[in-house]
Amino acid sequence: MRIISAKMHPKRSLFPKYILTVIILLWVVTGRLCGGCNSRTEQKKFIIGFSQSGEADEWRKSMWEDMKRELSFHPEMKILYRETNDNSEKQISQVKELLTHHIDVLIISASEAAPLTPIVEKVYDSGIPVIVIDRKIASEKFTNHVGADNLQIGEMAGDYLARILKGKGRILEITGKPTSSPAIERSLGFANSIKHFPHIKISKTINGEWLESNANRILMQNPGILDSVDAVFAHNDVMGLGAYQALLELKKKKLPIVGVDALPAPAIGLKSIQTGKLVASILYPTGGKEAIRNAALLEKHKMLPKQTTLQTMVVDSTNVLTMLMQTSKIAAQQQDIERQAEMLTAQKKIYHSQQTFIYLLVSLLLLFLIVSLLLFYSRKLNRRINQELVLKNKDISRQSEQLVVMSKKAEEASEAKLNFFTKISHEFRTPLTLILSPTEDLLTNGKLPPEIKTGLNFIKKNAFRLLRLVNQLMDLRQVEFGKIRLHVSEQDVVAFCNEIILSFSAIAQKRNIDCRFITQHRSYLMWFDADILEKILFNLLSNAFKFTLDGGSILLELTVDSMQQELKFSVKDTGIGMTKQEQEKIFDLFFRANNEVVNSSGVGLNLTKELVEIHHGRILLNSQKNVGSDFSLTFPLNKNAYTNEERADHIILRDELKNLENIYTTELMPDAKNEANILVDINKNLTDKATMLIIEDNKDLQKLLQSQLQSDFEVVVEGNGRDGFNKAFDIIPDLILCDIMLPGMDGLLICRQLKKDIRTTHIPIILLTGKASEVQHLDGLKSYANAYIAKPFSMTVLKQTIETMMYNYKRVKEHYTSIGNYSYVPQEIENPPKNIGTPLTNKAPKKKSDRRFTSEFISIVEHSLHDEAFSVESICQQMNISKVQLYRKVKSLLNVNVNEYIVNARIQKAKYYLENEDLPIGDIAFKTGFTSAAYFSTVFKSKTGSTPKEYKRLSQGRG
Ligand code: FRU
Repeated sequence: MRIISAKMHPKRSLFPKYILTVIILLWVVTGRLCGGCNSRTEQKKFIIGFSQSGEADEWRKSMWEDMKRELSFHPEMKILYRETNDNSEKQISQVKELLTHHIDVLIISASEAAPLTPIVEKVYDSGIPVIVIDRKIASEKFTNHVGADNLQIGEMAGDYLARILKGKGRILEITGKPTSSPAIERSLGFANSIKHFPHIKISKTINGEWLESNANRILMQNPGILDSVDAVFAHNDVMGLGAYQALLELKKKKLPIVGVDALPAPAIGLKSIQTGKLVASILYPTGGKEAIRNAALLEKHKMLPKQTTLQTMVVDSTNVLTMLMQTSKIAAQQQDIERQAEMLTAQKKIYHSQQTFIYLLVSLLLLFLIVSLLLFYSRKLNRRINQELVLKNKDISRQSEQLVVMSKKAEEASEAKLNFFTKISHEFRTPLTLILSPTEDLLTNGKLPPEIKTGLNFIKKNAFRLLRLVNQLMDLRQVEFGKIRLHVSEQDVVAFCNEIILSFSAIAQKRNIDCRFITQHRSYLMWFDADILEKILFNLLSNAFKFTLDGGSILLELTVDSMQQELKFSVKDTGIGMTKQEQEKIFDLFFRANNEVVNSSGVGLNLTKELVEIHHGRILLNSQKNVGSDFSLTFPLNKNAYTNEERADHIILRDELKNLENIYTTELMPDAKNEANILVDINKNLTDKATMLIIEDNKDLQKLLQSQLQSDFEVVVEGNGRDGFNKAFDIIPDLILCDIMLPGMDGLLICRQLKKDIRTTHIPIILLTGKASEVQHLDGLKSYANAYIAKPFSMTVLKQTIETMMYNYKRVKEHYTSIGNYSYVPQEIENPPKNIGTPLTNKAPKKKSDRRFTSEFISIVEHSLHDEAFSVESICQQMNISKVQLYRKVKSLLNVNVNEYIVNARIQKAKYYLENEDLPIGDIAFKTGFTSAAYFSTVFKSKTGSTPKEYKRLSQGRG
């Protein structure tokens, strides 16, 4: 009993599927969320390319710091920083390099205006916005300029110095790089201012190239310059400090020095004003913050003004402290802002990691919820499934218990059935033995009349046949119930085969069949079950005898295949053979091949196959229709092919063999007198008895019918349908008794064909068959059979049917022969037959055909009477039938012999001439086909009782 467990339920597999789906979903969602956090920082940035002109001096450092500070408020922007040592060539190549990074905006402070102009214009023309910071280019092709007004710075420096010098004095101007835009503009503004003071002169201008060291070096090398000036204007604070240093080192008197930048850096700018090194400085803001702001506006696609001007002012001892305080306050605030910005960044980081953590937490929570739900659902489902399974298991348990009970009952029933079969077979065997022993006793009496002997032989044969069938059925049942056990022992198989073949020698001799056992071995010891092998061989040999015609051959062959360790038997016959389809079914139980000419139950070969298989063997059939069959058997040689239980000594007894011999061979024995094949030579022996053709394949039935009907009929018997059909044309019988299931040609077809043919259409046919259903009965009648009698039938009924048919025949014939004006039909046929064996005719469905035959026959005779060579043969030729057919048909239809009819016709015609024509006797004899007048007179007298002359006289006297 199989109990189904919950684990096996297919619905459970849904659970992991759900979980898997949810995990994948969560993984995707979480991944997206985290990806989302990161992507904000990783998304494409707005790239600023920044090209710085000079080296990293304090002012430019300050500009860069301003820029970075401002950039911290714009995470969406990224800056690429390049600087050069005021080298235009280098700066040009740096700009080109920046362009390869696909910058979105270029911020540039051109070291020199003219050389940098073309590359900046190119950038601008390519659609990249350009923000120029501090130092300009010599073109208007830029987007925006950030910086203080250097012209104004120059003017403010001029005005301031003029005020200090009180309108009179000489000034030394130290310029930045003269090719850079601030230097050009500052000089111009300074000169413009000085123009307004006629007593003030720019007595000397030197190029400090924006560097403290340069200004100091030039003045130290030319100390005289300082002697001839009253004040100094340096384009930036560091060059002013260079001049201050030179004055100090040359120990010259202190001069008022004005610089530019006013950076809030230590030691320079504001500090040098506070310390008195510079008298004043013009504020020049870096513009770093503004440039980044402007870039941010561009990033947001906002328009920029062409100029972002930064404010400037003069810082001197009057406001330097305030400035310093402000700048230090601003610096402190700036530091605060930076700290806060750092804190903000840190907070942001914390926020992002917390955000990710929360996402994960929420996802896990969701997962937990879903899993819990699924678990809950699956538990519920499992509980339900388990409940169902418990019910199912209970059901299965109940069913299996029922099965146990049922199989026990079935076993009991089988046992009972087997017991019944065993018992019933004994019940059959006993009366059969009781029939057989007195029959065999009686047969030993040599004085028995032949009919009694035939009858007794008939009883003996059929009793043995019944005994064989009972035994075979019994064996089959035992096979079916697995009750047949194999008991192999080592015996001489050659001697065994010789014994068996000897059992068939008497039949073989009688039927002139070449029956032999062929082997190369004088003796051969092998392991076999003699009881089973004997049944197998008896079955196959008796089968071969059934299907082999007299004069054929049946061979039992034994060969040893030592290679394959097999023993082979072959039972080969020259019998009627089988078609491929028949061969396929030949081992099926109750299968009967169509070609059987003998009785067969369809049990023997099925049993044989079962027995061969029990003996661990194989059986194969090789057969060819109308050539013969060969059953080959293969058994193992090695005793190890059999189990220990199967190996047991069992010697077959001679008596048992004798018993099988009787059972299998008695029915094969032909009868002393072969009544079945009495053939009557119709041509020679046309007696008054009617002829009956019996077409029946069962030999016993043939004999029974023959013995019962031969007193009234000439009986001709055929066992094959095709032969019977041909025989009907050969002998034109008066009645046909025909079976339906026939080898060669079936009875219904025979009936239809005979009824269609003018030569045989009149013959009454009685179909005699085992097929008793209504449909089959109807089929029989549809084929124009005159009667249909189902087996088993009563002989009395059959005889009565035949008699009734005869009576009807008489009535029909009376009517039939009176229809046509057959003046020559002799009076004799008017006398009805006295017994049932008198030739019959038929109330036939084809009267017209018979009438046509009769009229054709009469007409031929009528037209040929004058011909002395006219004979039966010439009628046959003209009507295209055989002599026998003509005799039979005329006898049947007109109840007269053909020759007699012709003679009568001649006499009738002669009578006509004698009565109506005045012709000499010789002429009349000639006209009616007589060879001479003398022969004519003899025949005429024998028929009419008077000579032609006397007849003529008498008739003329009457006339
Ligand atoms: C720094 C500097 C400043 C000056 C500016 C002019 O490199 O020399 O001192 O104001 O450049 O571009």
